[in-house]
Amino acid sequence: MKSAKDVNVSFFKVLKNAKRILKNPLPFHHENFEKYGDIFKVHLGFGKTVLFTRDASLAKYMLQKNHRKYYKSELQTKDLAKYIGEGLLTANGEKWLKQRRLIQPAFHKKKLESIVFTIKEVVQEELSRIVPGQTVNIFPLMNDLAFRVVAKSLFSYTDTGDTITRLQYITETAQKTLIKEIRQPYKRWWFNLSGKIKGTLKLTQEARDILNTIIEERRKTNENYDDLLDMLLESRYDDGTAMGNEQLIDEILILFTAGHETTSNALTFTLFLLALHPEIQDKVYSEVSNTNFNNLTPLEQIAKYQYTKQCIEEAMRLYPPAYFSDRVAIEDDHFNELKLPKDSMILISFFEIHRHKGFWKDPEAFNPDRFDVNTDKKEYSDWYFPFGSGPRMCIGNNFAMYEMVLAVSEMVRNYTISTQCDTIEIKPLITLKPQNALLAFTLR
Ligand code: HEM
Repeated sequence: MKSAKDVNVSFFKVLKNAKRILKNPLPFHHENFEKYGDIFKVHLGFGKTVLFTRDASLAKYMLQKNHRKYYKSELQTKDLAKYIGEGLLTANGEKWLKQRRLIQPAFHKKKLESIVFTIKEVVQEELSRIVPGQTVNIFPLMNDLAFRVVAKSLFSYTDTGDTITRLQYITETAQKTLIKEIRQPYKRWWFNLSGKIKGTLKLTQEARDILNTIIEERRKTNENYDDLLDMLLESRYDDGTAMGNEQLIDEILILFTAGHETTSNALTFTLFLLALHPEIQDKVYSEVSNTNFNNLTPLEQIAKYQYTKQCIEEAMRLYPPAYFSDRVAIEDDHFNELKLPKDSMILISFFEIHRHKGFWKDPEAFNPDRFDVNTDKKEYSDWYFPFGSGPRMCIGNNFAMYEMVLAVSEMVRNYTISTQCDTIEIKPLITLKPQNALLAFTLR
């Protein structure tokens, strides 16, 4: 392996490419990986550097084998916590571990059995909004679907039509403000002066008040709703205590943020790819239109829809919604001959790992057969990271897969999906978003 020391992208080169990096950093990353190999170092000015990597074994090393020596950067913790609080997604170290231990059981496959009914109901409700024959950008609908699925899984009983709309608006506004702060840090003074940040913080306080009311109402009832909120209220730390309202609100805001945009991106990319590949869509249709599965429970149906699942997995390989993550070394370390001094910041490009010629045959092709259950999972698990890896791996991975299999199967069973576009446009922000996902739905 090359040493990162001698493969530097200068600050001058970054500045020269600033405009195109701001628009879409992925081609710039790719050019440098091709030129320097799987690890290169970028100078960001003021002595700051970042190591970029598409070395899957280094990724595994930081995320799994030696995760204790690596924290998430301030971008993923402090900056994000300003709007959604400090919890599972945004905490590091002891605090993270405490929350993970507490919340993990609520996302266990067995616990999700009851929630999957709610997920299916919301999917059906949302999909009834599709107008057959019209060409539409499907992303906003997928976005509403994914938000409502998380919200209704949390508060199954609440008559929350308007409340959920408001919470969704606030969550998305906070995300937009954060993107602006991250992408244009030199304008932070203006976002402060113009009241943009203050306005967003006021909105997030409104969300906190709404959630507090919902939690207080729930605490007063003796009914069992068997939803995520019930599970979070019942969970106990090792010392037997429960989460207080403030921490619970942080975690709910975190689940909204982590669980909705990622899922809506993955769903949109999957549908788009199926529209571009009618022969693959036909195979999904023959799977999901099998009437023998009609009387099964949603969870049993999901288990049968194996090829549909493979299509989603392959879509997330080509278009991983969480297309990168980062870690910071908390003490001096090394990986093989690569020195990683304390405070080194490393950006892991899942996007590049997922399209690496050394790992994948014909990496640009959409080929769901790669994920055939009969192939050895180990074959790709070392270089497939849609949900991350190690102890901080996505807590909602099963939840998301259930939701996506239900949504895609429901769509393909009812409609033929087509498109006039021949390529998929992407918009890499905090997550990898699809752009102009113009699809038409014809009733079968
Ligand atoms: C297709 C959908 C999804 C994708 C691609 C995705 C991806 C990821 C990834 C890559 C991470 C790890 C980040 C890192 O280690 O730096 C993560 C963490 C997380 N995800 Fe997801 N996610 C999805 C859906 C969900 C859903 C539905 C929920 C909850 C309802 C959720 C909740 C979380 C939380 C709380 C974390 C932080 C876990 C921790 O640090 O312990 N995600 N997700």
